[in-house]
Amino acid sequence: MIKVSHPYFVLGTKDLHYIFRILETGQLEHLYVGKKLIDQTYEALHTKITAGMGSQILYERDDYQAYLDLLPLEYSGIGKGDFRLSPLEIKCPDGTYVNDFIYHHHTIKNGFIKANTMPTAHAKENEAQSLVITLIDEHAKLELDLIYTTFDQANVITRRAVLHNKNTSSLVIRKIMSMMMDLDETDVDLYTLDGGWIKEAHQHKRELTYGTYIIDSTTGTSSNRHNPGIILAKKDTTENHGVCIGINLVYSGNHYEAVQIANHGMLRVMTGINPHCFEWVLNPNDAFETPEAVLSYADQGFNELSQHFHDFVNHHITPAYHQKRSRPIVLNSWEAFYFNFNHRKLLHLANQAKDLGIELFVLDDGWFGDRNDDQRALGDYTINKKKLPYGLKHLADKIHQKGLQFGLWFEPEMISPNSQLYRLHPEYAIHIEGRRPSLGRNQLVLDLCNPEVRGYILDNLHRILKEIPIDYIKWDMNRQLTDMYSAFVIHQGMFFHAYMIGLYSILQEMKDTYPHILIETCSSGGNRFDLGMLTFGAQIWTSDDTDPIERLKIQEGLSYLYPLSTISAHVSLAPHAQTLRDTPLSTRFNVASFGVHGYELNFDYVSPVEKKEIKRYIQFYREHRDLFQFGTLIRHDIKDDHHIVWQVTDGKKHVIASFQTLAEASPEFEKLHVQRLDSHTLYHLKSFQQRMPLKRFGHLISHALPIKLNTNGWIMRKIGEYKMLDNAVIDDVMSGEVLKNGYRLKQQFSGTYYNQETRIIGDFGSMMYVVEPLEEEHDENI
Ligand code: GLA
Repeated sequence: MIKVSHPYFVLGTKDLHYIFRILETGQLEHLYVGKKLIDQTYEALHTKITAGMGSQILYERDDYQAYLDLLPLEYSGIGKGDFRLSPLEIKCPDGTYVNDFIYHHHTIKNGFIKANTMPTAHAKENEAQSLVITLIDEHAKLELDLIYTTFDQANVITRRAVLHNKNTSSLVIRKIMSMMMDLDETDVDLYTLDGGWIKEAHQHKRELTYGTYIIDSTTGTSSNRHNPGIILAKKDTTENHGVCIGINLVYSGNHYEAVQIANHGMLRVMTGINPHCFEWVLNPNDAFETPEAVLSYADQGFNELSQHFHDFVNHHITPAYHQKRSRPIVLNSWEAFYFNFNHRKLLHLANQAKDLGIELFVLDDGWFGDRNDDQRALGDYTINKKKLPYGLKHLADKIHQKGLQFGLWFEPEMISPNSQLYRLHPEYAIHIEGRRPSLGRNQLVLDLCNPEVRGYILDNLHRILKEIPIDYIKWDMNRQLTDMYSAFVIHQGMFFHAYMIGLYSILQEMKDTYPHILIETCSSGGNRFDLGMLTFGAQIWTSDDTDPIERLKIQEGLSYLYPLSTISAHVSLAPHAQTLRDTPLSTRFNVASFGVHGYELNFDYVSPVEKKEIKRYIQFYREHRDLFQFGTLIRHDIKDDHHIVWQVTDGKKHVIASFQTLAEASPEFEKLHVQRLDSHTLYHLKSFQQRMPLKRFGHLISHALPIKLNTNGWIMRKIGEYKMLDNAVIDDVMSGEVLKNGYRLKQQFSGTYYNQETRIIGDFGSMMYVVEPLEEEHDENI
């Protein structure tokens, strides 16, 4: 609900209030963001300044005065006395940079307000309300709309800005942020998600002090270096305690977040398009739309904040058709065959996948042109007849006949210099005349500012999708933007953002034409893991790194701002292709369960007993899919750095996974804590049986054998292919209170004894448990 009682604007969601007011001088003073206030008199929230200080600039309008530099503002300008980081830098037609935006009028509307060039969050009329505040700079002949939307149930407020040029000449926007907010807090830590290829979204915490901290990307993508999502948290905030504010951006291009602690301990935060190489020429009577910024607040720690963002993304960001719709379990051909496949091999893999319970078969890179390696053919859409002599439709039909869905990989934004397309249209590739363009993965990027290029991509996609029954698209993008130039923008400072507008228009047409097709976006893994892409594709290939121990950090980092339904996670072979780490199959499964589950391996390299395990895993995932994709995620606070515990729940049933990244000799006794239980209800605690390969014991197995056998010999290897050991079986009943306080687990294996109840966890080991109220329990094969 949005309430206006002059001069106050009170934006409410289910639990939050966001309040600001119009100052006598016309600017907007930010007053409050936090849990709902019962108080109707907001004067207590005003900043109380009785006199200017030292070198302050006095701002005067009509009979009123203000010291803008001392006030928490909703948005600011340049050159009128606020010397903090400005959200806006405009070169006016007269060459000046000064701007000063004053309240003019406002409107309120139910639902959300669509943007013309940018994707936005969506909602039904009764789920959201929007406020547009129009500010005016009379002298510069500019209008600035600040658009706020409240998403009631998700406890999220979004903000964006639209600038209108009312001059008779063009102006240049050099910086325009989607939102800005001033808080009077300094004992705050900044949490960001940073990394690189195969190391995405590692969470980092920084203590803030005076000065400016900037998180951004300049790669033309939201990037794996720094995700646009940030969290500001009061010191000592933990998973379940403390105050934090999260901010994210519905944008997939160059982004910029700045946090500044300035004079008098005021904290300014802003997010928007990166001003790096950005200069937008705004013609008379034209408007410029910023991407939408997303904001939420929690006072019960990070889990509560994440829950707001998860609800918001699941209900208001991902495409309506796929919301709350179960995501299929995928088999992706990439790590099984890379480029080296043919019709027969694919069907063999699909047969194995079907037998194990997999639901969607995805043919990854390599099906078009002469694409036998990554040196060629991007931009070509002819089907590779050598690999697929019967065509792609025939393959898709065969896959469908098996009862599997069929998915296909595309990299539509790219062109290989060695391609039919490049030979015909070298001008389609982004380049600067006379300068040799830099390659990335042997490829160049198509100029999406060029309408003909967009038409070429869409024509080919439509042609293929009309002919071939496709249920899923993997939309990949494997390099960053360099050599920025397009003949289709009037100023090269518009290039990066115009590329995004072009991309979004293609994706919008795809979404409108094929709403039922599930799109998974990807950019060498998570190089474009952001809310912008999620408005078109409901899930994202999180990382090319499927090593479960690496994935713990990657998936956990993303989980602060993105729900499990968006995090695509596959089981691959061990030792892992990138880290050579040898991890138990059970841990690979357990980690890949927290998200959209899949497999990316050649089952010919999997032993019969492991296949049996995988079949059991898939059945377990299917039974608990709702929890793993749409349940409430609870990250547990753990006191050491080699354990991680995740819990998912629908309020009644709980699945808890506990991961041990490093074993210890003679470890402390451990307890299993389960959160959000009713103290007086009886619960059934059951372990999801983790079986262990014999080879885990190596030569030690000989001590347990009645006869002498070579533990590395043929007989032991054969036994190992068909037999695994039960491990850490738990089947017990207890009250919620006991589980909340901690159920005492049996000790871990320490070399003296083994039976099926001994917990053998070791390095990279993990356990998964199911907790259900006794009376709710139904028959399950776990
Ligand atoms: C990228 C993706 C992979 C795979 C390959 C295919 O690296 O992240 O998952 O699709 O491209 O070339």
